Amino acid sequence: MNRGQLIVFEGLDGCGKSTQVARLAITLRAAGHAVVATREPTNGEYGQRIRSLAKSGGSISHAEELRWFIEDRREHVAEVVEPGLSAGRVVICDRYFLSTVAYQGARGADVDEILESSEAEFPIPDLVILLEITPEAGLARVHERGHAIETHFEEVEYLTAVDAIFRHVDCPYLVRIDGSTEPDSVESAVAECVAARLRLP
Ligand code: TYD
Repeated sequence: MNRGQLIVFEGLDGCGKSTQVARLAITLRAAGHAVVATREPTNGEYGQRIRSLAKSGGSISHAEELRWFIEDRREHVAEVVEPGLSAGRVVICDRYFLSTVAYQGARGADVDEILESSEAEFPIPDLVILLEITPEAGLARVHERGHAIETHFEEVEYLTAVDAIFRHVDCPYLVRIDGSTEPDSVESAVAECVAARLRLP
């Protein structure tokens, strides 16, 4: 059995990842591929802790936050990502370790260290599609969806720092696509990119 392939979508909140994950899963399934569509943070123990903390507006130390995201990923890789790849499936993941690099990096964690240790521990993606959008445009979309994210200064400021890391990070498996256009045109760009970069039988 050939090993499957790992496609990751990354980007700021509101960049359109979830829509594109769903659309690519439909396209690849229609083409006969076995697809696992998944996301981080997960609904596992640490993922639930992360979500309920976000909902309650509570806070933990930056070190603890980083640990929760990594523990969540460990569980996710062991239970979903690795089994999917071993079974020859195309695993499409909404966020993965570059989110930790950018979001926890923007909280002051060492960007190079997170990237290096993540690449050493977790399966390296075959392709990461980074959907680029400005923090302001992303937050505007999040608000349209009715999500309760504050647009106070710190929020824009934090996402601007996250964005700066996403814009500078450089990995051979990373491709940038403009996420500010209509979902249909992003979908076409994603399909082109997947066809060009991956060998899907
Ligand atoms: P998100 O994809 O926005 O999930 P949802 O909209 O379904 O709640 O992820 C939630 C937040 O978690 C998002 O603001 C980015 C953040 N995050 C990190 O800070 N580090 C990480 O490693 C991951 C995976 C996410």
